[in-house]
Amino acid sequence: MKGKSGKGYWNWCFAKTKKLGLPAVFLLCSFFFLSGFFASTLLSLQDTSTATTRSTLQESVNEGIEYNSLTPGETGDNSVTSIPFQILSWKPRALYFPSFATPEQCQGVIDMAEPILGPSTVALRPGETEEDSKGIRTSSGVFISAAQDKNGILDIIEEKIAKVTMLPRVHGEAFNILRYEIGQLYNSHYDVFDPAEYGPQKSQRVQAKSLAFMQIASFLLYLSNVEEGGETMFPFENGFNMDESYDFKDCIGLKVKPRKGDGLLFYSMTPNLTIDATSLHGSCPVIKGVKWVATKWIRDQEQDD
Ligand SMILES: *[C@@H]1O[C@H](CO)[C@@H](O)[C@H](O)[C@H]1NC(C)=O
Repeated sequence: MKGKSGKGYWNWCFAKTKKLGLPAVFLLCSFFFLSGFFASTLLSLQDTSTATTRSTLQESVNEGIEYNSLTPGETGDNSVTSIPFQILSWKPRALYFPSFATPEQCQGVIDMAEPILGPSTVALRPGETEEDSKGIRTSSGVFISAAQDKNGILDIIEEKIAKVTMLPRVHGEAFNILRYEIGQLYNSHYDVFDPAEYGPQKSQRVQAKSLAFMQIASFLLYLSNVEEGGETMFPFENGFNMDESYDFKDCIGLKVKPRKGDGLLFYSMTPNLTIDATSLHGSCPVIKGVKWVATKWIRDQEQDD
């Protein structure tokens, strides 16, 4: 574009030369050309320095663009939805949703869960006992379904999770509301159960009545800010640390600091439907503060819980 307008400018200058005499016009034109040239160089320098911020803004805000929705089919949505997200990682596929829920919604969920918390449990491999699993997951928690929430907060959140995953609501387990106090953690683990390791699942983690299932995705909604620690960690992010030396307590790799109202979605399966080894994750110990999180595990099959 610069070249094109520059050429037009010189043509204009030569036309003027015929009228006003060569030296005067040449000097004048050269002066304006040079000042224009320097100004555009300066501007393009500024461009590079602000390029990152700009593209972020353009992609996330899309100011001034009007979106016209289509007339939906029987089950479609007649409005255009804007739910901002950030891609945290491709290995595993992890998305971050700033301000997914309001602070009031978060507090409402905590108030509901707090009086009925119990110790969190883990699924056991054949032959394992409760004793073997001690210390792996030290949080307290409770399962609450959207239907059980008389205030309708979980209903709103569940609907929104279904929108961003496009996995129907009926594929999700009830919300597991978890509290991690100082020192409490969840060692790195997979949400998806490898049938080879665990046998066909009848879901030992929940009292679901379903037969074998595969976990597809997990959505974590952070209900509190944690002053220190309590990050969700993906130690194998991008294929790092995937050797024998990794200790499942180590808090390394991609770490997501809990922020009240923000959501984290990640997939346990790759697009070719094998288990994504990089989806290994855990909860770093809370060092200061309390971590509250609402977790939804989403499966390949409908749930009847
Ligand atoms: C499935 O995809 C993963 C990467 O997403 C790849 O590493 C793996 O080899 C693939 N497996 C098969 C059986 O194609």
